[in-house]
Amino acid sequence: MSGAVTEIEVGLDARRYSIRVGSGVLEDSAYWCDAIRGRHVLIVSDDTVAPLYAERVREAMEGCGVDAAMSVLPAGEAHKNLDAVSRVFDALAELGATRDACVIALGGGVVGDIAGFAAACWMRGIDFIQMPTTLLAMVDSSVGGKTGVDHAAGKNLIGAFHQPRVVIADLLTLATLPDRELRAGFAEVIKTAAVADAAFFSWLEANAPRLLARDTDALTHAIATCCRFKAGVVERDERETGERALLNFGHTFGHAIETQAGYGMLLHGEAVAIGMVLAARLSARLGMANESDTQRLRALLQAFGLPTEAPSHLQPDTLLARMRLDKKNRAGTLRLILWRGIARAEIVERVDEATARETLLQEPA
Ligand SMILES: NC(=O)c1ccc[n+]([C@@H]2O[C@H](COP(=O)([O-])OP(=O)(O)OC[C@H]3O[C@@H](n4cnc5c(N)ncnc54)[C@H](O)[C@@H]3O)[C@@H](O)[C@H]2O)c1
Repeated sequence: MSGAVTEIEVGLDARRYSIRVGSGVLEDSAYWCDAIRGRHVLIVSDDTVAPLYAERVREAMEGCGVDAAMSVLPAGEAHKNLDAVSRVFDALAELGATRDACVIALGGGVVGDIAGFAAACWMRGIDFIQMPTTLLAMVDSSVGGKTGVDHAAGKNLIGAFHQPRVVIADLLTLATLPDRELRAGFAEVIKTAAVADAAFFSWLEANAPRLLARDTDALTHAIATCCRFKAGVVERDERETGERALLNFGHTFGHAIETQAGYGMLLHGEAVAIGMVLAARLSARLGMANESDTQRLRALLQAFGLPTEAPSHLQPDTLLARMRLDKKNRAGTLRLILWRGIARAEIVERVDEATARETLLQEPA
């Protein structure tokens, strides 16, 4: 049985859905069975998460009266590609999945992005349920409907917007998450605070030890705060024509660093942590913010054991070339999310490339 469950609504009219955060919600189909409309369900997971949790989901599903099949993918960002999507299509074809079928994404952001994209494409769009099992996926990737895979030319270049029917975030799954993965998830938590919530930023500064010790109440507060914030942004700007881009604070730098280092070398959250420090430094260089805010951000990231400097072998010019390919750019100019200080992120058009390059070359203070 699950204990207290925190529920957050994403209000998107006919496509509205709930995010349910609690302990044991994975095994209690009462929280998600109603999101399954047809007879066919495909659980997509990876080869680390499936042995830990897939059977529990499948057993819980017996109460829903459906036939569930499994598709187990190799774990990790290196496999977030079209081959993986193709394997999910094969499993859907074998299941005989029709338009009322449902895909369950059980795993971290990689599984969520692949399974969600496959669901967006199969018969031009079938239902899917997000069951995030990493902190990063609970606070960020499972909410908001961005799905997709990487291309050799860059991260997440192939994708679609496709909202889930429900998000089931079971805190019990975090017990098996390796420390490094947990810390990487905190990068996106810190991002939420850095973009728009000064009180949350201070709360994170005060509660880092509790959060790293996986205190359930502290984790619930952090996850719910991030989901509430993201839900609001997605309600106002689902397709990222404006405000939603703010959630990419640190990501343009981060994606370039992650790709250049080679997928799998730096975790996504680690690359975002470095990217946020670079975005803050560039903001200070451009006279938009104080260096003291960069220092505060850096200290908070370090309190969560996150890296704050790019690996020294990465060349600034190569990183810049990657950044030019970012989806946020317009008309060949660099468009970045920078800030005016803590909780005051903003979109900046036509960022001066020379200043961005100097920032990449800058020695840590
Ligand atoms: N769609 C979006 O809006 C969005 C937002 C942010 C990030 N992302 C994407 O999310 C991905 C990163 O997600 P991630 O950090 O969850 O990585 P991940 O999915 O690779 O998971 C990290 C590792 O932890 C393992 N794991 C997952 N849950 C576990 C558990 N409970 N116990 C033990 N091991 C577990 C996985 O097998 C994997 O090896 C990136 O590809 C990024 O681009 C997408």
